[in-house]
Amino acid sequence: MKNELTLNNGLKMPLLGFGVFQIPDFEDCKQAVLTALQQGYRLIDTAAAYGNERAVGAAIRESGIPRDEIFVTTKLWIQDAGEEATKAAIQASLDRLGLDYLDLYLIHQPLGDVYGTWRAMEAAYHDGRLKALGVANFENDRVQDLMMHNEIKPAVDQIELHPFYQQPQRVQWLLDHDIVPEAWGPFAEGQRGIFTNSEIQNIAIAHGKTNGQVILKWLNQRQIVVIPKSVHAARIQENAQINDFELTATEMQRMAALDEKQSLFGNAHDPEAVKQLGSFKFNY
Ligand SMILES: NC(=O)c1ccc[n+]([C@@H]2O[C@H](COP(=O)([O-])OP(=O)(O)OC[C@H]3O[C@@H](n4cnc5c(N)ncnc54)[C@H](OP(=O)(O)O)[C@@H]3O)[C@@H](O)[C@H]2O)c1
Repeated sequence: MKNELTLNNGLKMPLLGFGVFQIPDFEDCKQAVLTALQQGYRLIDTAAAYGNERAVGAAIRESGIPRDEIFVTTKLWIQDAGEEATKAAIQASLDRLGLDYLDLYLIHQPLGDVYGTWRAMEAAYHDGRLKALGVANFENDRVQDLMMHNEIKPAVDQIELHPFYQQPQRVQWLLDHDIVPEAWGPFAEGQRGIFTNSEIQNIAIAHGKTNGQVILKWLNQRQIVVIPKSVHAARIQENAQINDFELTATEMQRMAALDEKQSLFGNAHDPEAVKQLGSFKFNY
């Protein structure tokens, strides 16, 4: 299996990346990203709202790996929604990262003035500072609306996907529309005993692998990009060792049977959740 795919604008994107949500400390984040790059990860997923773009940029520089070999993603937070604010936010992210372009820029949440935001993103795409545009947490109807009324179609939708919340129809719709599904929280952030789940373990043992590796493979095998997070070097290394085995069709079906069909991270349609997200502001 190839370990990269091609986005709908021709850009290559690795199937395995490294996520840095909830690593607020500069040194911790820099070290984790450096370890990931040393272990062969070539996609780093950060966000303005994670407060660690500077640490990610420092790790990229310290790694000595040429810029064009690393796929860097960051995201636009709700406080910067709208055309003018997004223009400034794109440049602020580039400045914090110390980069002159981003491989992928995502609207982090389908909230606020996403149309103004998309126009500013299209302008930055045309001037070469953003190589691909995408969204996160957009349901299919919102993606459909966005792509009908704008010039550039999203290349990626980053959504919650793990064994307990699989969203098969949502994923299939994205694949059918040549939009790459990218799994956030592929390990359900460690909830529900995912790393010791016996059904996953039975599959893992058959391949001499761990639960984490099986989960990432199960996603990658369906052309879903994964961005697991860890601050532990041994786990960062473990999570990257997924290119030397394949799950059988039966094993894929056994993984599919684990779906509990419910988000583990709240209801996006709850007005209180929208209020909370819309009130969160970062400042760094
Ligand atoms: N777009 C969005 O709205 C959104 C939302 C959430 C996340 N994301 C992105 O998706 C990335 C991944 O999601 P996530 O960070 O929320 O959660 P995750 O990757 O599902 O899980 C991370 C948790 O699993 C643990 N872990 C990692 N590898 C392990 C292993 N091999 N064995 C045992 N434990 C292991 C980590 O612990 P240690 O760190 O202690 O090792 C951490 O507690 C984020 O970092 C972020 O980039 C995006």
